[in-house]
Amino acid sequence: MNFTIEVNNQKIEAVKGETLLDTLTANGIKVPTLCHMKGMIPTGACRICVVEQKLTGKLITACSYPVEEGMQILTNSPKVTESRKTIVELLLSNHPDDCLYCSRNKNCELQDLAETYHVRERRIRGKKNTHHLDLSSASIVRDPAKCILCARCVRVCDEIMNVNAIDILYRGSKSEIGTTFNKGLNTSSCVNCGQCIMVCPTGALTEKDHFPEILEALAHTNKTVVVQYAPSITVSIAEELGLKAGEDLNGIMNAALRKIGFDYVFDTSFTADLTIMEESAELIHRIVNGGTLPMITSCCPGWVKYAEEFAPEFIPNLSSCKSPQQMMGALVKSHFAEISNLKPEDIYSVSIMPCTAKKFEGQRKEMTQKGISDIDAVLTTREFVKLIQLFGIDMNNIEPQLADSPLGIRSSAGKLFANSGGVMEAAIRTAYFKLNGKEMVNFKIPPLRGTKGCKTAKIQITEKLEIGVAVVSGLSNAEELLKEIKNGRKDIHFIEVMACPGGCISGGGQPINSNEEALKERIKSIYKIDEKEPIKVSHKNPEIIDIYKDFLGEPLSHKSHDLLHTSYAKRDDVIL
Ligand code: SF4
Ligand code: SF4
Ligand code: FES
Repeated sequence: MNFTIEVNNQKIEAVKGETLLDTLTANGIKVPTLCHMKGMIPTGACRICVVEQKLTGKLITACSYPVEEGMQILTNSPKVTESRKTIVELLLSNHPDDCLYCSRNKNCELQDLAETYHVRERRIRGKKNTHHLDLSSASIVRDPAKCILCARCVRVCDEIMNVNAIDILYRGSKSEIGTTFNKGLNTSSCVNCGQCIMVCPTGALTEKDHFPEILEALAHTNKTVVVQYAPSITVSIAEELGLKAGEDLNGIMNAALRKIGFDYVFDTSFTADLTIMEESAELIHRIVNGGTLPMITSCCPGWVKYAEEFAPEFIPNLSSCKSPQQMMGALVKSHFAEISNLKPEDIYSVSIMPCTAKKFEGQRKEMTQKGISDIDAVLTTREFVKLIQLFGIDMNNIEPQLADSPLGIRSSAGKLFANSGGVMEAAIRTAYFKLNGKEMVNFKIPPLRGTKGCKTAKIQITEKLEIGVAVVSGLSNAEELLKEIKNGRKDIHFIEVMACPGGCISGGGQPINSNEEALKERIKSIYKIDEKEPIKVSHKNPEIIDIYKDFLGEPLSHKSHDLLHTSYAKRDDVIL
């Protein structure tokens, strides 16, 4: 039911059942929020969203107050402004004064609020926090001194990721966010997804910095420094560089990486193609030989750690394929080293990923050859943009270049890995070809596209074989599907799981505070690449054909197993 309310002496439309904040936002009236999270039940904890009821002078929280017919509201009265300013001053009263050195400088909601409400001095002095930095995780750094206790991280970890690694500990002024027994994050169930970083309004949560090591490697003349970039990176950096959101900067990025000083530039979408070759062969093998089904993808390290901790009974269902990052790492320090006359230990291998969990994955003990790590350092998309800025690269004034070859040519199927449903779509294209000897008539599988948390479809692979597939993103959605399977659901044969809602395109290493439109543009850009490019299937990538001919033999060969496959195990004690 629609009705009108009065806001700042003007009539606006409202819909019954909405919160006041929903109504104000829909009508273009901005109200600041901190603890509020779109789509989640409001807690009303921070009170920064207060507005004034005109008739009573009472302050109410817009995020949690239901809109009522005939309401009269003031959103910017002196009382409202003063109240919000006091809240900001209280939050700042014990906040460290290190904005200049903070990684969220100029991208901090608290800093923005201080600016909006003209906080120009520290009027209220609180006791400074003495909390220590938590550097124990391979992926996430926690700085509790910068925490304003909005609890957004706790909610995303619990309600979206179903991990519950962190919570509000203690009471009153002693409250802080922490893990069980307030130990380091590495002793918790944290899966390193970085979604808590994405929602944190301040610099209390950031990724583990690999910058210094990379700068050192680039300056170190004895090392050959190679870099790979994940499928989503080329369409996610534009907005951070002041360009049109979603613009594909692939060629420009290749050139920029060479200007920065990387000796070789490889495209992880090439190993995404390789993953498809191995994974589709594995799926067919399992279906034909009665192996464990449903098979579940294993390219997302956040999901893999979740399975090891929370769903070990599904470990046999995980594909044994390494992720594209790790396949590239393994090939660089074997095949590429060999053809380039380099010793693996003389190669420094960097990857640029949309994901904080890739930092964790890169240092897993399974991801080594003769004690040498396949991946030496991982940069998130955000860190990569900082690297571009540090080296003063003008992305508007640079000629596009191709990635290095081999390991640099991809199909558009490999590129689809960026979007939720992309791995599944790419795998089906190749599995279909392998079983029928001909290509699909239409490569596009619409039910598997979009950002819905759980998508399912039935695919007629051959005349006699129809398979059920599911694509889930967000670990709570994965948990729901796993429950159904445990309870006897039998119609699903292949599942793609990505820990982050919407997949890698909105991974925990992507730009913070991107709006929904930017996200949609990135997704669109990936599908546009798939539409316009001629090689739409992994098995037609000429470099994939060559690497099997010259080096690997065939999918699931002995060599493939050695380099491209791995195994996972139940985690009893939570470490790293
Ligand atoms: S990284 Fe993910 S799992 Fe770990 S605390 Fe943050 S939200 Fe939770
Ligand atoms: S760590 Fe960040 S998201 Fe979590 S409660 Fe503190 S300020 Fe909020
Ligand atoms: S945003 Fe409304 S109470 Fe925090």
